[in-house]
Amino acid sequence: MARRKKIYEGKAKILYEGPEPGTLVQYFKDDATAFNAEKRAVIEGKGVLNNRLSEFFMTGLTQLGIPNHFIRRLNMREQLIRQVEIIPLEVIVRNVSAGSMAKRLGMEEGVQLPRPIIEFSLKDDKLGDPLVPEEYITAFGWASQQDLDDIVQLAIRVNDFMSGVMYGVGIKLVDFKIEVGRIWDGDYQRLVVADEISPDSCRLWDIETGAKFDKDVFRRDLGSLTDAYTEVARRLGVMPSNATHMPKPTLIN
Ligand code: TMP
Ligand code: ASP
Repeated sequence: MARRKKIYEGKAKILYEGPEPGTLVQYFKDDATAFNAEKRAVIEGKGVLNNRLSEFFMTGLTQLGIPNHFIRRLNMREQLIRQVEIIPLEVIVRNVSAGSMAKRLGMEEGVQLPRPIIEFSLKDDKLGDPLVPEEYITAFGWASQQDLDDIVQLAIRVNDFMSGVMYGVGIKLVDFKIEVGRIWDGDYQRLVVADEISPDSCRLWDIETGAKFDKDVFRRDLGSLTDAYTEVARRLGVMPSNATHMPKPTLIN
């Protein structure tokens, strides 16, 4: 096969040139990082799971008319996506206190918030993805006020969809992060959900037991990350529980 042109390599994914202009191939790696890449590991099967789970969530968004970059899954680790201009923000939606918010406010984790709270971090690992107020975003031109209004609407719709889907399988959507991209159509732009939606970028807790099924399992050394993500996939009916591993060859006598 001809070598494909690599466009970008991130911590968990690689983007290659797509088959048609305006498309890219998004490849899901097995690499896991946390704390802005201070902690790293290779977790066998994670890329396969996240490829499938992101396909599942993005397809659901499409069915509800929530614009996103997903076109179709190509194989175990790759999907075809629309090329977008990524807005350099991490858009975080929180339903329950956890993580950096709980820490910042000296709150216990697990407190239901009075309403979903949306916050923005600047996508910059070297700076540790600092939380930024809207004033910074508009003043430095990372996004306009109109973009921000549209991003908040998108984030709320994703939250409603994701919360409902997860609730249906006994999982609480505690918080999540999305990235948003611009697609240009002449002088006009549309904002779409980009990157991925997977347990790498969500907090997912079992409603009954509080067990964690997300990247906190890796961040906090709570057990097998593959088992946690496989449980999410199994409950959603996304893939058979053993499909991340290729069967080992067996000798036939
Ligand atoms: P936080 O509590 O660490 O700020 O994270 C909030 C949510 O955003 C959590 O679901 C994890 C996700 N997240 C990412 O996907 N990438 C990141 O770089 C960070 C900091 C958080
Ligand atoms: N995604 C970030 C990293 O890989 C932070 C995190 O998820 O904890 O370093």
